[in-house]
Amino acid sequence: MPREILLNAFNMNCVAHQSSGLWRHPRDQSREYTSLKHWQDLAQTLERGLFDGLFLADVSGVYDVYDGSPEAAIRAGMQIPTNDPFSIVPVMAASTEHLAFGITGSIPYEPPYAFARRMSTLDHLTVGRVAWNVVTGYLDSAAKGVGKLQQTEHDTRYDIAADYMELVYKLWEGSWEDDAVIYDRISGVFAEPDKVHEIVHEGKYFNLRAIHLCEPSVQRTPVIFQAGGSVKGQAFAARHAECVFIGAGNIAAAKKTVKSLREQAVAAGRQKDDLKIFALTCIVVDETDLNAKKKLEEYTSYGLSEGSLALMSGWTGIDLSKFGLDERAENLSSQALQSALKSLGSRTVRDWADFLAVGGGATIISGSPITVVDQMAQWLEEADIDGFNVAYTVLPECFENIVEMVVPEMQARGLYKTEYAEGSMRQKLFGRGDRLNADHPAAAFRRG
Ligand SMILES: Cc1cc2nc3c(=O)[nH]c(=O)nc-3n(C[C@H](O)[C@H](O)[C@H](O)COP(=O)(O)O)c2cc1C
Repeated sequence: MPREILLNAFNMNCVAHQSSGLWRHPRDQSREYTSLKHWQDLAQTLERGLFDGLFLADVSGVYDVYDGSPEAAIRAGMQIPTNDPFSIVPVMAASTEHLAFGITGSIPYEPPYAFARRMSTLDHLTVGRVAWNVVTGYLDSAAKGVGKLQQTEHDTRYDIAADYMELVYKLWEGSWEDDAVIYDRISGVFAEPDKVHEIVHEGKYFNLRAIHLCEPSVQRTPVIFQAGGSVKGQAFAARHAECVFIGAGNIAAAKKTVKSLREQAVAAGRQKDDLKIFALTCIVVDETDLNAKKKLEEYTSYGLSEGSLALMSGWTGIDLSKFGLDERAENLSSQALQSALKSLGSRTVRDWADFLAVGGGATIISGSPITVVDQMAQWLEEADIDGFNVAYTVLPECFENIVEMVVPEMQARGLYKTEYAEGSMRQKLFGRGDRLNADHPAAAFRRG
């Protein structure tokens, strides 16, 4: 039996997300991001296509590295303006039954006690359909938004994240025992105090002495997503993540990353299948290969180079306005995304401006449904990934095309589910219950 492909839609509460300038396309509706109906309709489209999740990216600052100014990003609408990702989840959950929601929460900008409560609340409201994409940030502008001069050094951010994880795991897993709430109308006892524990955390970066404010939710700890690409980032993912997003440009590179991640997970005392790995892709499909090629060309014509370069400068921490269009920015260092920085010298500045316009650097899989599914199957088989995190081109057309053309082709080959499994997000993904596996580090903090 072939393994079933997992699918996440990749989006952000803004226009065009990764596809710089494609909000200008006549059929694009991402401009409606401020409306509830926009998100409800999108969630229902994804659920119609049995997508596993909608993954919401987020950044807490503006892209102001390019030319030392936010002007290019503001002009191009490159992830600015951007609304909060948490607030749109309940309305989408109310309009769907199975679709899960991955929400990006940034360690440096989310105080852990309040954050743990917000996640538990969403896990309750969605009946266990939430995941947390753990990120450590990459923009100095975001650090300035919380009163710092600049962001903390790259590797230290992961040390801080490790301390943060321990704290929130303790709150989610260890504060309330499963049978703490008895809700006894006769005796007048709602919850038994000896089964509700104060968490004492004295870490290098965080201290806390408090009871978690929420009773246990379906999953307790939300499904943990992570996308670190550096040495530190991968080690963090192998220890904590249940789902990992990788941004590998080709199958050979992805294969190497996946092998390393699975090996590190095993070294950390977990199983290699405890990680579901998603490759970042952008799918452009049409009835024939030729039509898909024309569609991709047409999409590309709406790209805004300046927005792409503002994005890449923010990701890498390198001001690309300082380089000639035919130059390569090579062998540089910064405190931003190390994976993006590593790839920077592989193209000229002009190539980055063109390449990022559709999908923001995601691997583009384009063609007829047969061609697209051939390639997806090849990725799964050769790179040992579990699925795809799909960046969009034109919204909602991009996802509608996938639902109408790619999903039936995958199903016909036995590569995709024909109905959702029951249960929480974690149960659907791993088939092993709602709660974290016993070999996950969070399990050590369980009580009772
Ligand atoms: C597919 C993908 C999506 C990401 N989404 C976000 C995001 O929404 N917000 C964010 O701050 N970082 C995001 N990142 C960045 C990573 O989570 C991580 O913080 C970054 O790769 C830094 O780690 P590194 O230096 O270890 O690569 C994303 C990375 C990838 C590959």
